[in-house]
Amino acid sequence: MKGVTVITHPLVQHNLTRLRDKRTAPQEFRRVLSEVAALMLYEATRSFAVRPVPVQTPLAPARGFQLQHEVVLVPILRAGLGMLDSLLQLLPHARVGFIGLKREEKSLRALFYHKSLPRDLTKFEVILIDPMLATGGSAAMALEGLAGLGARQVRLLSIVAAPEGVAHLAAVVPDAVIFTAALDRALNDRKYILPGLGDFGDRLFGT
Ligand code: PRP
Ligand code: URA
Repeated sequence: MKGVTVITHPLVQHNLTRLRDKRTAPQEFRRVLSEVAALMLYEATRSFAVRPVPVQTPLAPARGFQLQHEVVLVPILRAGLGMLDSLLQLLPHARVGFIGLKREEKSLRALFYHKSLPRDLTKFEVILIDPMLATGGSAAMALEGLAGLGARQVRLLSIVAAPEGVAHLAAVVPDAVIFTAALDRALNDRKYILPGLGDFGDRLFGT
């Protein structure tokens, strides 16, 4: 795989700790998540290609820059929705695609239930949003689907990642790049991340 970047910025780590804390209620969880997401996006877009463009200031001509490619943000439903709004604040021109996946309760394998994406992703920078990378089954399925539409070097934003999920993605989607706030210890026998932060969707939506 192209790599895993653990974002150690103090503000990210401070807010991650609030997310991990079991006393953090959904209202606060959503607010803190928005802050972490924005800070992570800053890091994940650092290598975006730009092209030079001329710009006229009130005083003189200057050299400016524009993003070279359009951006598509793709949250995996449900949990990825929690990061979408704050990413759109920073990338208001981004398109938004959706992939619906749900880990089946017994097998814990990702089941596909919805997709809404641009038909051709070859010319886009694609950012996949899935806050938990546990077994990696959900992210791998989504990344394979995006690759099938021509996406290359998709950046995955995950709040917490497990070593098992990272290894799985490295094996099946080596082109992907992961940005995470934490690379945690392991999965438990129900494939939850330890120490993790529990069930992300439940904590976000209060279910
Ligand atoms: C959670 C999480 C990820 C997935 C990660 O979603 O949001 O999408 O599990 O697990 P994996 O790496 O083992 O595939 P879940 O299936 O619980 O759905 P939800 O977001 O609707 O709660
Ligand atoms: N999904 C979650 O929401 N949490 C985990 O720890 C693993 C998968």
